[in-house]
Amino acid sequence: MNPSIIGLASDHAGYPLKEFIKTLLDRDGKSYTDFGTCSTAACNYAEYGHLLADAVTKGRVSLGIAVCGTGNGINMTVNKHAGIRSALCWNKEIARLARAHNDANLLALPGRFLSLLETEQIVEVFLTTPFEGGRHLARIGLIENIE
Ligand code: RB5
Repeated sequence: MNPSIIGLASDHAGYPLKEFIKTLLDRDGKSYTDFGTCSTAACNYAEYGHLLADAVTKGRVSLGIAVCGTGNGINMTVNKHAGIRSALCWNKEIARLARAHNDANLLALPGRFLSLLETEQIVEVFLTTPFEGGRHLARIGLIENIE
C-alpha cells in the first residue's frame, strides 16, 4: 500500500467538486492521483469509479475519494470491487464514523448537494480519522462473507 497517495475520481457532475478537493490537497501538501474525468463533458461515472477502485484494491493509492452528482452511482460502482468499503458521506460525522467504525477506504460524495465548506470538513475528517478496530474489526470482516 502507498500510504501517501489519495486517489480521486468523478464524473462530469462531480468534476467541479473534485477540482476543489485537489486545491485542498495541494494546500495541505498531500499527494494524489486523479483518475478523471477531466472536464464537465458528460460521461459515465462507472468508467472512472472502476479505475479508482482498482487502484485502491491494488494498493497504488491508500484511500479514494469519488464524486458524482448524488454520490450514489459512483459509490455503487466502487463497492462492486472486493475489498472496497466505500461510504457515501454528506456530513463530517458520517465521514468520521465511516472511518472509525467501517474502516472505509473510499469516500463517495454527492457533488451537487454539498457546499465547499461541508466538503472541506468531510474530506479533512475522512483523511485524519483512524479506524477504531476492536468490535468493529469482526463486523467489517463479515461484509464480504457472502455464501
Ligand atoms: C449525472 O447526471 C448523474 O446522474 C450522476 O452524476 C450521479 O448522480 C448518478 O448517480
